[in-house]
Amino acid sequence: MSAHEITLIPGDGIGPEVTGAASEVLAAAGVDIRWRVAEAGAEVVSKYGSALPDQVLDSIKATRVALKGPLTTPVGRGFASPNVALRKALDLFASVRPVKTLPGVPVPFRDVDLVIIRENTEGEYSGIEHLVVPGVVESLKIITEKASTRISEFAFAHAVATGRTKVTAVHKANIMKMSDGLFLECARKVARGYPDIEYEELIVDATAMHLVARPQRFQLLLMENLYGDILSDLCAGLVGGLGVVPGANLGTDYAVFEAVHGSAPDIAGKGLANPAAVILSAAMMLRHLGEEEAGARIESAVAQVLADPAHHPRDLGGPATTQQVTDAVIAALDQ
Ligand code: NAI
Repeated sequence: MSAHEITLIPGDGIGPEVTGAASEVLAAAGVDIRWRVAEAGAEVVSKYGSALPDQVLDSIKATRVALKGPLTTPVGRGFASPNVALRKALDLFASVRPVKTLPGVPVPFRDVDLVIIRENTEGEYSGIEHLVVPGVVESLKIITEKASTRISEFAFAHAVATGRTKVTAVHKANIMKMSDGLFLECARKVARGYPDIEYEELIVDATAMHLVARPQRFQLLLMENLYGDILSDLCAGLVGGLGVVPGANLGTDYAVFEAVHGSAPDIAGKGLANPAAVILSAAMMLRHLGEEEAGARIESAVAQVLADPAHHPRDLGGPATTQQVTDAVIAALDQ
């Protein structure tokens, strides 16, 4: 089989450390990959005049698949999020985040196994904001029938493909009657085509409560952009935190794999980052590329390593460095 050509975006903060760990693990798993490294993020703005230079998009358009580290976005000022821009530019409309308990990782729940399917291109993240008069800002939330139907179809198809039997659409249509109302209308219409899948609707605040009380009741959460962003981090907390939850941004033509976490400036460059989330994102990428066996082998190596508290990095309360976790995963590949 010829080598897979893949764009690698090391990103900001802990990005280079954790994507470096993932590429070491993929090489050790024997997957033939030719990386095209593309620089993006806050640290390259002065070099290219943009946090998302054109050559990054060009590279992904050529390779169709990318593994991405986190990109920093300044809060309340400065350039717009390059993450949101990337998802829009490549029409990566579906964010897929599997949230699963790993044996050995200290958490309050033992058997969480759900997936978040988040609409990735519109909602409050449309970035349409303006000053009406000093002291008053207007921010527009865009919900379209096209994007809501597309993400609902993706969610139900994903449920079928992964053997899940229930879809929960999360909303706030009691308050945002038109926008969230339209989202729900589209989800309901799609649900009618899947009589074997149980469909329920739950208000986002109630969902947050149920998630921290009994997350096992959920199999697949279908959400708009903002709710999905917030509840993804909450769900990460259910299974050990941001260091262990992988993710994918999928469109019709392109796929970008990345962890849920950000650039973690507080621990960047210290060798303390947990590389598991990006390694598991890389395993999702391998499955997407048809390398099922290598993907599964990496997932079970990560689970095996994290089952031993001696291998836990600092976010899980252990002593291991990023490199030690990476080396342990590589050693576990052959067991
Ligand atoms: P963050 O996810 O970077 O960090 C939150 C907390 O979790 C920090 O204490 C951090 O040390 C810890 N953490 C995150 N990942 C970890 C890992 N792999 N191992 C150990 N600990 C880990 O979120 P924060 O601080 O809100 O955002 C920092 C920057 O990242 C911001 O500029 C934000 O915009 C950006 N960001 C980028 C994302 C992306 O590129 N997809 C996603 C989320 C945030």
